[in-house]
Amino acid sequence: MVPDRRGNLTFVEGGNHVPFQIARAYWVYDVPGGARRGAHAYHHLEELIIAISGSFEVGVDDGCKRSRYTLNRGYVGLYVPQMTWRSLENFSTNAVCLCLASRRYSPDDYVRDYDEFVALVSASS
Ligand code: TYD
Repeated sequence: MVPDRRGNLTFVEGGNHVPFQIARAYWVYDVPGGARRGAHAYHHLEELIIAISGSFEVGVDDGCKRSRYTLNRGYVGLYVPQMTWRSLENFSTNAVCLCLASRRYSPDDYVRDYDEFVALVSASS
């Protein structure tokens, strides 16, 4: 973060602050109370998830261990490696979730079934 009385500034560089080149950015916003987004894993995609505004929770699960993080600072990003089940929940009013991704959008890279995810993790270990 670069604090400034005129307003703070934060930046991120692919391959420097995150261990991948940034191929895509997308953001999730106007999420109604109680809604959940992004409950899936990716075969190959890595990402950085940032609460640009407001707050939300990210549940992450590598097939062995589950963790939960509250993101509520625009200068903090959560790195999520490939083959991690992740879900976004408990969005505050006006929350904006920015995702910086290592790959362009590809539906084939998604693992949308949790049991399939667990089976894939088990098969690779
Ligand atoms: P998705 O990643 O499936 O979000 P969620 O798991 O929260 O439903 O994306 C929702 C829809 O948006 C899906 O139909 C695909 C589309 N989409 C794109 O076309 N490009 C993108 O970069 C993303 C992230 C989603």
